[in-house]
Amino acid sequence: MKNEMEKLRVQPGGALVGRIRVPGDKSISHRSIMLGSLAEGITEVSGFLEGEDSLATLNAFRAMGVRIERPAEGAVVIHGVGMRGLAQPAAPLDLGNSGTSMRLLAGLLSAQSFAVTLTGDASLSKRPMRRVTTPLAAMGAVIEDAEGMPPLIIHGVQNLTGIHYAMPVASAQVKSSLLLAGLYARGRTRIIEPAPTRDHTERMLSGFGYEIVRDEDSVSLAGGGRLMAMNIDVPGDISSAAFFLVGAAIAPGSDLMIEHVGVNPTRMGVITILKAMGADIALCNKHEVGGEPVADIRIKYSPLHVINIPKNQVPLAIDEFPALFVAAACAEGTTVLTGAEELRVKESDRIRAMAEGLAVLGVDAQPQQDGIIIKGGAYQGGIVDSLGDHRIAMSFAMAALRAKSEINIKECENIRTSFPNFISLAGSVGLGVE
Ligand code: S3P
Repeated sequence: MKNEMEKLRVQPGGALVGRIRVPGDKSISHRSIMLGSLAEGITEVSGFLEGEDSLATLNAFRAMGVRIERPAEGAVVIHGVGMRGLAQPAAPLDLGNSGTSMRLLAGLLSAQSFAVTLTGDASLSKRPMRRVTTPLAAMGAVIEDAEGMPPLIIHGVQNLTGIHYAMPVASAQVKSSLLLAGLYARGRTRIIEPAPTRDHTERMLSGFGYEIVRDEDSVSLAGGGRLMAMNIDVPGDISSAAFFLVGAAIAPGSDLMIEHVGVNPTRMGVITILKAMGADIALCNKHEVGGEPVADIRIKYSPLHVINIPKNQVPLAIDEFPALFVAAACAEGTTVLTGAEELRVKESDRIRAMAEGLAVLGVDAQPQQDGIIIKGGAYQGGIVDSLGDHRIAMSFAMAALRAKSEINIKECENIRTSFPNFISLAGSVGLGVE
């Protein structure tokens, strides 16, 4: 199995036509396992993302004694153990490629009655953890790290204190980590955001009956409460839909309907930006499922032009920039992105990975410390390296729709972390991928 996705070969040209459903939202899937495990009662999840990242979270909670069943594809049944019911795992928890698992668990596990070690793969082992361990230490957490990076050794303590913390970076992972620690802390934990970030933790905590206070730029909760089990219908992941949105936006003749996608306003940057570039996108059948807005998204090809990407859209489209860079490279004019230095510390350095790959394909793409400058033009084919980053790999796969010859993409196995059926789904609507 391992070799099957190591390299992708994508034929040039074609269009995306049809109706698809993308796998469940990764962020919501992680949180469903975490909160379901800590709740009282049985939480049934449908639409769960069976990707390696969310399964790493699921396996971590199983290793901490939570009974979790998987009766059918996308269905998960969690027998909650309550706030104090987790047990010490027998071995370190290996979280693979998943930064969300590691950062959120760092908060949650800071307050348990046992010590635990969190490890990850080569990419995760290079990602910065002080953004969570520093404020957690201020709450009283005791965490050892390796020069700010994993592995993390967490010595659970019973006396965390709530903090008021103004985050230096706009990060939903940091916010969520501190809120999860705050569930156990004495007093209130209040997180002030420099810009809005995804709010799935807050929404799901409310769904589980926990009182959350939100205002324009902050969220807070008081420690010591309980979570009551609920059922969760995970919508499709807009970050996975993004590859198809960009593919359809750049490939003449495309007309694609993506059903049941999460359209939470804190995740809508990709749609806002593509629409501003001239993409023909319509949201249909809007409704709410379990506290999260959902819609079917229809996109048809139309010529794109460049825009100045507003800084306030950066956190709202943070995972979609690799795909958006592919769109920018097909648009008329020069795209300038600034204020996006966070892209350098994702699963790969995404500014470098995209600039190098676009250059191989003959696109004028100049990396900047905090962004990129891309001159729209025609693509050649070529061999690009995804640097083992799932989103880079899938973005370059879509670039082939406008390339003059075949694109080969190296190191694609991590597509499994977020989008296990990407190849078959993309193939079913017209991408010549193998
Ligand atoms: C996530 C938050 C974002 C995002 C990541 C998932 C989450 O990370 O890039 O893929 O589920 O909270 P940051 O909080 O580091 O921006």
